[in-house]
Amino acid sequence: MTINALNRVLELLESAPARPDVTRGHLDLLGEVEEPHDTVAQRLMRSVALPRIYEQVWRPVLFGLSKGGPLGPSTAEEYALARYWLGLAETPGATVLDVACGPGNVTRALASGVTRGGLVLGVDASATMLDRAVEDTAVRPDQADVTYVRCDAVDLPFREDAFDAVCCFGALYLFEDPWAAIAGMARVLKPGGHIVVLTTRRPRLPLVGRGMETLSHLAGIRMFGPAELTEALAAAGFTAVRRRSYGLMQFAGATLA
Ligand SMILES: C[S@@+](CC[C@H](N)C(=O)[O-])C[C@H]1O[C@@H](n2cnc3c(N)ncnc32)[C@H](O)[C@@H]1O
Repeated sequence: MTINALNRVLELLESAPARPDVTRGHLDLLGEVEEPHDTVAQRLMRSVALPRIYEQVWRPVLFGLSKGGPLGPSTAEEYALARYWLGLAETPGATVLDVACGPGNVTRALASGVTRGGLVLGVDASATMLDRAVEDTAVRPDQADVTYVRCDAVDLPFREDAFDAVCCFGALYLFEDPWAAIAGMARVLKPGGHIVVLTTRRPRLPLVGRGMETLSHLAGIRMFGPAELTEALAAAGFTAVRRRSYGLMQFAGATLA
């Protein structure tokens, strides 16, 4: 993490640490914490093995199948949709938050749409995921700053109105309290800022839906009902809420009023 990027991040925090811990290349705001929401899925995310295969194997296979195989958007199309719904092309030098960034795959894709002078910040609770994110992210002086913070996505440590855009892909279904997470994302977003979310979608057929819900719950994954997410966004103060569904996944985008 460069000194410049660290200083930019510290300015966004509600309360900056007296001695920032950047020993692993990201700013660690969690230290040694007990994981209160300890599910099978969360343990996998904290493992050493998954971050190594996540971007090249795990995500393309599992997300690909969940999006309906060839009927759904490719990973590149997902990322393009995120950049478009976040309005990055219309926001020069944007400050962007990527919530639950994992190994930084989406963070880097967002950064490719942000002009020089901008800042793209990936946050995650898993130190092993962030190790990989740091390793795979080249410092490019000609592009926006890209940097990482270890923190809880459900209790974001940033000040109000800090970001022009917030993205949360492939993670809301892992959170113990997804609605508190959405409220937190609204809090740190500037009025008029955009959010984009990719998460699970419960199948419409009641029997299939209930079966899927039970199975995924065992692994610590929540399935969201068709209108649950869009209604929660509206309740959190978002307008112009839009949604696209593919198989067991859904994208939602909105603008903070
Ligand atoms: C499947 S990965 C998603 C990575 C990336 N956003 C993507 O779409 O490919 C989910 C990430 O959510 C993170 N995560 C889960 N709960 C979290 C929490 N409460 N706070 C921060 N990160 C969390 C995990 O550590 C994991 O890296």
